[in-house]
Amino acid sequence: MSGMSGFRTVRGMRDFLPEEASLLRFVEDRARKVADLYGYKEIITPIVEPYDLLSAKAGEEVKSRMFIFKDLGGRDVALRPEFTASVARLVATTLKNEPKPLRLFCVGSAYRYDEPQKGRYREFWQSNYELMGSNRPEADAEILMLTNTLLQQNGLRRVAFKIGHIGVLKGILEHEKVEERIQNAVMQLMDKKQYDDAIGLLKNSGVSENCTSIIQELVKLRGANVLEIVKKIERLVKNYEKSIEAAKNLREILRLISGSECRIDVTLDAGFARGLEYYTGIIFEMYVTDLDIALGGGGRYDRLIELFGGEPTPAIGVAHGLDRIMLAMKMQQTRPQTQRRKTVMVVAVGDDVADETSRIAQILRESGISVELEIMRRKIGKALEVADKKKMDYAIIVGKKELDEGAVVIRDLVRREQSVVNIGKIVERITLVEGRDLP
Ligand code: HAM
Repeated sequence: MSGMSGFRTVRGMRDFLPEEASLLRFVEDRARKVADLYGYKEIITPIVEPYDLLSAKAGEEVKSRMFIFKDLGGRDVALRPEFTASVARLVATTLKNEPKPLRLFCVGSAYRYDEPQKGRYREFWQSNYELMGSNRPEADAEILMLTNTLLQQNGLRRVAFKIGHIGVLKGILEHEKVEERIQNAVMQLMDKKQYDDAIGLLKNSGVSENCTSIIQELVKLRGANVLEIVKKIERLVKNYEKSIEAAKNLREILRLISGSECRIDVTLDAGFARGLEYYTGIIFEMYVTDLDIALGGGGRYDRLIELFGGEPTPAIGVAHGLDRIMLAMKMQQTRPQTQRRKTVMVVAVGDDVADETSRIAQILRESGISVELEIMRRKIGKALEVADKKKMDYAIIVGKKELDEGAVVIRDLVRREQSVVNIGKIVERITLVEGRDLP
């Protein structure tokens, strides 16, 4: 039988080596803390879901990139491309009688068959927050502020929010009786900034000249003087009742954010659309300078839960791309401040001290000190070299001679000094030295 070799990861899939893995877990922990701070309860939903659920309102773009397969029972299933559909399923079914609002948090991997490039992978990680049951602008503002907190807590600077409102455009298209299929196609084109194609499609579907010229003007409105721009939007859409309502809603949300004194840098973009089809209200994405891919995005979707058979439930949510947050952290060189455990290599000298050695290792671990046992039977010199290379803090050398006195040798690998210490004092010794290190 011939051997197998040369295996590689599937295109678009990555291994996370220890450093990457620990950064991902750090960012994930931060996301969990922010969820806690804002009162979001964590839930865990399956990676594999019914294809029909995930595709219902995902939009053509996401739908065309889903990993789809039949399971062995012949069910059409897919790997989740996002969390929102799963959370909406829960709120439409199992959680339907829970008191509102519901604040739910998930974190985990998601899958899209995107073209692999910087910050774009086929397996990626999201932290996802959904706030369900309130149509108040306070809910929208909360999701934006929570997002701002999360990015701040990861040490990111120069974060900018791009904001739009799908209700402005939808108000016009619905009033003009544009078929939903065409509406969605128009949004997909706008999401890709193909405004001319979007306008062309509208003209072809028989929309009035006046209407297309309003939309043409609308998509040009963008900038940082947000209240000014809302005013311009209101003037442009003055004949479309639903659109005026949407602009008012946008104004209220923007007021709440600026009144909250959490400094969020906002750009308003009236021609902004997002690929997902379920949005009905405000939509947004976050960016940092020098990285032109979104760190996350979200928006209001007031009809998804009833589409899934639940009670009509207004909702707003956001997903943060953890891989991209990690990229931005590296770019901005924001080192996470984690409290690292002290690390110790425990080396046995000779054959007859094995029991005592593993007992000592256990005492240390129970005190929260990270221990690696030397198990390659290396000579002391070699073992210390390895411990040094691994940047460990201490080596403990367990030899017969010291053991007979109830002691071991502790070597401080940073200061390069060693001494004989009573077994009962090892933990104290290591933590004491740590205390001295503190400013
Ligand atoms: P989304 O904009 O499709 O929204 O994805 C959110 C974030 O996930 C993106 O901004 C990006 O950071 C990250 N992301 C998406 N695709 C990839 C990829 N191929 N590689 C790396 N990162 C990626 C949603 O998923 C909605 N569920 C957000 C939401 C929640 N809306 C309401 N509630």
